[in-house]
Amino acid sequence: MRKPDIFDEIIQCLKTGEKTGADTSMSEATLHDLYSAPVRKAAPRPQAQAAPAQNIQGIPAAYAPDMPEWESLRTECAACMKCRLGATRTNMVFADGNPHAELMFIGEGPGADEDATGVPFVGRAGELLSRMIAAMTFDRKTETCIANIVKCRPPGNRNPADDEAAACMPYLKRQIAMVNPKVIVLLGAVPLLYLFNLKGIMKLRGRWLDYNGIPAMPTYHPAFLLRNPPAKKDAWADLQAVMAVFGRKPAPRH
Ligand code: URA
Repeated sequence: MRKPDIFDEIIQCLKTGEKTGADTSMSEATLHDLYSAPVRKAAPRPQAQAAPAQNIQGIPAAYAPDMPEWESLRTECAACMKCRLGATRTNMVFADGNPHAELMFIGEGPGADEDATGVPFVGRAGELLSRMIAAMTFDRKTETCIANIVKCRPPGNRNPADDEAAACMPYLKRQIAMVNPKVIVLLGAVPLLYLFNLKGIMKLRGRWLDYNGIPAMPTYHPAFLLRNPPAKKDAWADLQAVMAVFGRKPAPRH
């Protein structure tokens, strides 16, 4: 049985607030004092489409029949053999969530569970990411879009090699352009390296970066947080800065 962590605590506070109808809002002035993140106005976005019923293995998660360019990119990626990872994958892992979402998470690459299902972040790290997203008051399926630097599993869960990332990045860049999120969250050192050519997640986490005009927040990868639970506090601070851009308030902790 897993010990409850800061994210369970926040989720519990959110539920309690719902039950009591407590006002968990922070004033605009407090938000302004706490965070200096750039805020971009975005038009309301369509809800995620329900995935097809036969969506079990090789799952087309983040399915967008109203976005043909998204679906044709998925088809292109599913046939990709541009690097050695294509030969060893079970499933290409395209994305999860809603391609119309305002909040995008970018991880490293699929692990064994993701390779088996075709959906990013479904293993233990994915379970933690889901709780981090819930603590942020976002719905993972409808309000976020989740993708990785590489779409095929690096054997043995190693980090992607430079040439593998280079082969796959054009796909991710096209996905980011299509989603056009209001904020990107970079999960760990790998997206920091390949999207920004920066090293040093320990130093750079919590500091806003700019990806083609989109604010990007580097934070710890959930797999790192599983190995280093005390770092969850810092990750939560980073995620709260992201929430502030959306005008969402952290639940007051009891
Ligand atoms: N870790 C990642 O970076 N991505 C996944 O999809 C799963 C685990």
